[in-house]
Amino acid sequence: MIFIIKRRMRTRYWRVNPFHPEKNKIIEAASLIRAGNTVAFPTETVYGLGADAFNPEAVQKIFTAKGRPADNPLIIHVAYWRHLEKVVQEIPPEAALLVRRFWPGPLTLVLPKSPEVPHVVTAGLDTVAVRMPRHRVALELIRRSRCPVAAPSANVSGRPSPTAADHVLKDMYGVIGGILDGGSTSVGVESTVLDLSSDVPTILRPGGVTREQLERVLKRVRVSSERENLNGDEFIPRSPGMKYRHYSPRGELYIIHGNIEKAVGKIKELVLNWQKEGKKVAVLCSRETQQHYLQNDFKADLLMVLGSRKEPKTVARKLYEALHRCDEENMDVILVEEFPFKGIGYAVMNRIIKASGNRIIQL
Ligand code: TXA
Ligand code: MG
Repeated sequence: MIFIIKRRMRTRYWRVNPFHPEKNKIIEAASLIRAGNTVAFPTETVYGLGADAFNPEAVQKIFTAKGRPADNPLIIHVAYWRHLEKVVQEIPPEAALLVRRFWPGPLTLVLPKSPEVPHVVTAGLDTVAVRMPRHRVALELIRRSRCPVAAPSANVSGRPSPTAADHVLKDMYGVIGGILDGGSTSVGVESTVLDLSSDVPTILRPGGVTREQLERVLKRVRVSSERENLNGDEFIPRSPGMKYRHYSPRGELYIIHGNIEKAVGKIKELVLNWQKEGKKVAVLCSRETQQHYLQNDFKADLLMVLGSRKEPKTVARKLYEALHRCDEENMDVILVEEFPFKGIGYAVMNRIIKASGNRIIQL
């Protein structure tokens, strides 16, 4: 789908201290939310594009700015327990447990919705997704707005999520009311979406809170039919958002799956082949393999180290930034090493697989 955005709105910009946000700036941003406008703000995961969750016209502006399909529901961001009570029908004991353990933080709970939540937020579903972000700026904005704030990631639908204000401005300048720039986000991939409306709690989207962490609190946790590794079967969408093309940079992204030493050799061979065709080729690698791409006879057009294979948190923090950088540098092809599916690495690989549109090179 090609989406043409008309940039015609005045977009306010505030640079804020991420740890001690300046009160006057938050008040200005909150007044836009209260007036039914959209404001982008940092969370600990990615930047969100927020609007008053109880104002359907304001929420509609989010869908328009993002070019988001109307059947893909939004997450409601809350700052208080009282906000949670307002948007859901009831709070089951396991939800209370999870809230106590993981909020504020990168865990989104899907629960039966309160009838007061507008349909546009939940895309007509009878459940609602809720989370309390851990970022000071996000929390202060919600508090000063005096309403729960519906917010998806602040990118044009289908594109990589924004982990810095620059990424948001590239996609959204002139189509949103304002942006609070609180620097780079710390987690780097989105929240875990956990469905508590079915019998067994089910992870619909892996994210900042890992399955292992959830299993320490809940008796059973299921992972939706998302493929768990690169050999898995077809993937069937469970969460409405999962069926869409996602997180994709403009260049074609390929994952090289298999033994890491062989993968390095294959990547180098592929880079040279594509370069011969006149393509610009990026390589996204790990600290452990970096030196193999720095030898004399070889030069990728862009080489980005995502982090150590033993530190998935670093890789998570760097992933979207690397994808944005590939776009800025007009890469035609992006070759990515496979990273271990461990801890938050599971979410990282989930996003890389989606960004690849299943272009997986098996060794
Ligand atoms: O970390 C995050 O979650 C970020 C920040 C801004 O909070 N937000 C975010 O929102 O990633 P978004 O809209 O990009 O992704 C929300 C996901 C989508 O896959 C959507 O389909 C799913 O949550 N979702 C929302 N409401 C749902 C519901 N009622 N049932 C199932 N899935 C739902
Ligand atoms: Mg998103």
